[in-house]
Amino acid sequence: MARNQPVFVCSACGGESLKWQGQCPHCSEWNTLARLAGVRALKSAPAAPASNAMPVALAEQGAEGERFSLGSSELDRVFGGGLGSGSVSLLGGEPGIGKSTLLLQAAAAVAAVREVLYASGEESTQQTAQRARRLELDAPRLTLLSDNNLEAVLEHTLARRAALLVVDSIQTMQSGAVEGSPGSVAQLRECTAALVRFAKQSGTAVIIVGHVTKDGAIAGPKLLEHLVDTVLYFESDAGSRYRLLRATKNRFGAVNELAFFAMTAQGLREVRNPSAIFLSRGATPAPGSVVLVTREGGRPLLVEVQALVDRSKLAAPRRVAEGLDANRLSLLLAVLSRHADVPLADYDVFANVVGGLRIGETAADLPLALALVSSQRNAPLPHTLAAFGELGLTGEVRPVAYGEERLRELARQGFTRVILPQGNAPREAPPGVRVHAVSTVREALAAAFG
Ligand code: TYD
Ligand code: MG
Repeated sequence: MARNQPVFVCSACGGESLKWQGQCPHCSEWNTLARLAGVRALKSAPAAPASNAMPVALAEQGAEGERFSLGSSELDRVFGGGLGSGSVSLLGGEPGIGKSTLLLQAAAAVAAVREVLYASGEESTQQTAQRARRLELDAPRLTLLSDNNLEAVLEHTLARRAALLVVDSIQTMQSGAVEGSPGSVAQLRECTAALVRFAKQSGTAVIIVGHVTKDGAIAGPKLLEHLVDTVLYFESDAGSRYRLLRATKNRFGAVNELAFFAMTAQGLREVRNPSAIFLSRGATPAPGSVVLVTREGGRPLLVEVQALVDRSKLAAPRRVAEGLDANRLSLLLAVLSRHADVPLADYDVFANVVGGLRIGETAADLPLALALVSSQRNAPLPHTLAAFGELGLTGEVRPVAYGEERLRELARQGFTRVILPQGNAPREAPPGVRVHAVSTVREALAAAFG
């Protein structure tokens, strides 16, 4: 590619194009291509001339670098077992969700034993210090810097030999290497690429904050994901004090690891028993509510699924699925109609997962079907009952992975009746739990509604 050939970059997916187009050829988004002025595409750029990288024999290369704790077992787990030296992580989330709070707490924990630099382009050092004091953070080795010049940030990090650098946020940083104002596609890419180079050469672990809007519309984290080692998203339900931290990419650990935090007056607290959050149930059982056990982030999690089924006045009744797959909902309605004599064609159907969680696994089929029927019949199911299982198109209830583990978690949380697939029937039910092993959706309804 010619040296200064213009390159256009999609702010949604980071894909490159040689000419401007209304629609990104990679992700099909509209009006997302922006010109990367004066710089060559990163992918085609030759290695930096200052590189002093040497080839290493596999046998002589030491094991992975040192990992250190971020002061919270939940946080460490999502990062793949603590933070690795030389690693680069991106923490994305909407403004105000608590990214700065989380990272200031983590930075302070690391700074108990290591040098840490917290560089903010958003807040003055006074503001950050005030927050640290309010959170009662005691961190002798934590240095604050309020600067948006990336080169200056890197110099200070090097001078302090910091083990961890926090950059808050990437949208405020500006590198002298490229043109453009902070937050532009060119600056976002160059600053992130420079941070990655710096981390790999110096061994400093870097955590980058990236703001995203609700629809992820601005050029931001999405564009940077392929440059970094770990991508984490901090999410929350509107108005909820609970926060969910999710790893969507991790070169060092499992993806889809999940941790829960609660925003309190003293900052973020880890939530050790997250199942309790999602079971926001009233004193008396309500129709349309069923507890399911899903596997999120490598562990079983109890979640309440709710359904509301109401006679429709519309020619095409409404089908709304929050936190669930809408196609799956349609499929379940067809299965119920065809194999369980529950005709819902003339009803508006709403389904929702409590607590803002998204469930992508088919183990939610059976509990959702029970919730739908419970709402339609106006027949509440007891609080002590829970279910899991996949529904097939012929009305069969199919087994799901980790059946035993799910059942154990339900027993641990005090459920006494569990409807589950025959294929997941345990040899012996946990003490105090009555297990209904079913093979068809009809049997499941009979077990639930008697
Ligand atoms: P913040 O970390 O500044 O969000 P972000 O960096 O993602 O933009 O968090 C801001 C919100 O958190 C703000 O509305 C106040 C609230 N908060 C608390 O409730 N308790 C606390 O101890 C702190 C520090 C903030
Ligand atoms: Mg912030």
